[in-house]
Amino acid sequence: MHSLERRFVSLTSPPSSIVIELATRRRTTRVFAKTPAALDDVIYCIKVAVQAPSGANRQPWRFVLVDDLKTKERIRVACEEQEKRHHANVEANLKQWFNSKNITWQKPFLTESPILLAVFSSQKMPYATESTWLAIGYMILALEERSLSTVTYTPSYPENVRSVFNAPDEYKLEAILPIGYSSDSKPKEPRRPFQSSVYKNLWNVEAWLMGARGHGLKDGDLSPWLSVRPVHHRQFTLDQVQITSSQVGDLNLQLGGLPIRG
Ligand SMILES: Cc1cc2nc3c(=O)[nH]c(=O)nc-3n(C[C@H](O)[C@H](O)[C@H](O)COP(=O)(O)O)c2cc1C
Repeated sequence: MHSLERRFVSLTSPPSSIVIELATRRRTTRVFAKTPAALDDVIYCIKVAVQAPSGANRQPWRFVLVDDLKTKERIRVACEEQEKRHHANVEANLKQWFNSKNITWQKPFLTESPILLAVFSSQKMPYATESTWLAIGYMILALEERSLSTVTYTPSYPENVRSVFNAPDEYKLEAILPIGYSSDSKPKEPRRPFQSSVYKNLWNVEAWLMGARGHGLKDGDLSPWLSVRPVHHRQFTLDQVQITSSQVGDLNLQLGGLPIRG
């Protein structure tokens, strides 16, 4: 099979994995239902999280699971104290975004969600923060799988909150995940078009490949996989990917409305 055809097959086949469904469906929840979350479900999600890769396999993450209301209240007080400071000094653009999302210094989800999961990383280990956030990424997909929700809340001054947990000095508080069932009506936040996030071979070189309907592709499906190099005004060559002129005719390739010539 021609390499280009193989690309068509891989790009047009229905997703064989549930991962894309979970990733697409999940959204941040800041308002939680009172329904309790099963501890077993949360433990399952942590078991998924600790399968994440980590720098030199040092597994720098540590989790503190909190289901005691008094402890949650202490965490909330410590966080809100810092948030007041942060929100008083926040720059205009971010303030505007906060306002549009109804995000204030108040963090009711810290006491209203049935469970809090504080996530720490050992700063003595290589790539501690990167690895720990990978584990958080695994975690939030697993939560979605169990119909649970969270917000990856990052306290504004985590060094001033970590003492509530009695954590050893080397551990940085990366995030607190309130976990429970969503009662948040806000819709999924939009993602930028895939084509504007992914390039091939060269930065910021996009092939807008449209109209390949003969291959069951929707407009723009393939564009990140092809890079186009301008040669002269209105003349382009395809970089790396070999497409013959007959295939170009077949596919009715276009770049920004202009047909691409082989
Ligand atoms: C590293 C990171 C830090 C975040 N910190 C906060 C936070 O402190 N408070 C908050 O309400 N949301 C926080 N979020 C959630 C983002 O605002 C949210 O993921 C984003 O707006 C996209 O929305 P979605 O998760 O519903 O798709 C954070 C997300 C990430 C990945």
